[in-house]
Amino acid sequence: MMPSRFQEIEDAHYARYYARKPITIVRGRGALLYDENDKEYVDCTGAYGASIVGHAHPLVARAISDQATKLIACHGSTYNDARASFVSKLSTILPSGLNRFFFANSGAEAVECAIKVARKATGRRKIVAIKGAFHGKTHGALSATWDAKYRKNFEPLVPDFIHIPFNSSEVAKETITNDTAAVFLEPVQGEGGIRIPSKEWVTLLSDLIHDAGGLLVADEIQTGFGRTGRMFACEHMSINPDILCLGKGIASGLPIGITAAADGIMSTLSVGEHTTTFGGNPVVCAAGSATIDVLLEERLVDNAAKVGEHFKVGLQGLMDKHRIVREVRGLGLMLASETRFDARDILTNAMNEGVLALDAGRNVLRFLPPLCIRTDQIEHVLAVFDRILEKEELARLPSATSTSNA
Ligand SMILES: Cc1ncc(COP(=O)(O)O)c(C=O)c1O
Repeated sequence: MMPSRFQEIEDAHYARYYARKPITIVRGRGALLYDENDKEYVDCTGAYGASIVGHAHPLVARAISDQATKLIACHGSTYNDARASFVSKLSTILPSGLNRFFFANSGAEAVECAIKVARKATGRRKIVAIKGAFHGKTHGALSATWDAKYRKNFEPLVPDFIHIPFNSSEVAKETITNDTAAVFLEPVQGEGGIRIPSKEWVTLLSDLIHDAGGLLVADEIQTGFGRTGRMFACEHMSINPDILCLGKGIASGLPIGITAAADGIMSTLSVGEHTTTFGGNPVVCAAGSATIDVLLEERLVDNAAKVGEHFKVGLQGLMDKHRIVREVRGLGLMLASETRFDARDILTNAMNEGVLALDAGRNVLRFLPPLCIRTDQIEHVLAVFDRILEKEELARLPSATSTSNA
């Protein structure tokens, strides 16, 4: 297909840092997106998890527009009513005890703040992260991110980061010692392929770092605010992080990162040691307050658990039917199907059939739809993938029958 004029303009000037789908999305509503030709897509990308209450939710849109007519720019060096209101609402849904927040503009920045707070609060430098982890691409966050393809051209990264194997107790015991400032953990690895650690291992990490006098940092940038069917994924594991990193959808797609901890930990950084021009911007905060209202009023965390289970069972049905699918995993509306082959053609075919989904590595299909997605929309997605997997299987495994996994 020929690129549209919007695609030509972006291709001419915009940095070529994103792997692009050849579509131009111009509007959305709920779990649906529309391109410039008004073709409809069921959105299982959720803008990489940044749409939780659904696209262009009217209450969020009104809150943004009302705030924009009052005040758009307001630095953190003065107080602001929209920021105060957001802070107050956040404090009602965050784990109790994590009641002091720093607002930034992205998930990576929430992680940057957590690194600095963890190091200053403990007076230590060593940070233990997990193989397969993704914490962002700025230099500090990248030092905690695992994948060599993101890291290799930018070394030396920040020193004293060590990665330990996922779900391995022995190495954790050897590595988490009295000089460790913090363990950084995604309760479910997102970019790493929707990998859920065992509850026992996560509990061990928490015990080890606390016994060593360090801090547990949970990166819930992708899992937070209902994505996994609980407000925070740490609840599935019964762990209590000392520092929580948040971002993605809590401002419905406006840029945000939040670092939260107890006052005694956050306040080890003094005035001026960590600030950012746009942090706590009033329009973003107004969007954040409205997003929390919608999340609670529409019971979207429960919906993520319920509809997510339906989706997962449907994906498991596809796995039983199509040998090309090796495994289905995930919690709530953070789901993945691992295929036996490169999954990128499958995603392109799904896009052509009006379903957008993500990858997470070459052979993992990842689904992060807005938490408002409905069962009938899930049924449509499953029907599309059923057809595509059937075709893909016939092409790649000509001798396969459609019940070969059963
Ligand atoms: C777990 C996790 N941490 C950090 C980040 C980085 O967030 P951002 O892209 O907003 O910088 C992401 C982004 O996908 C993420 O999934």
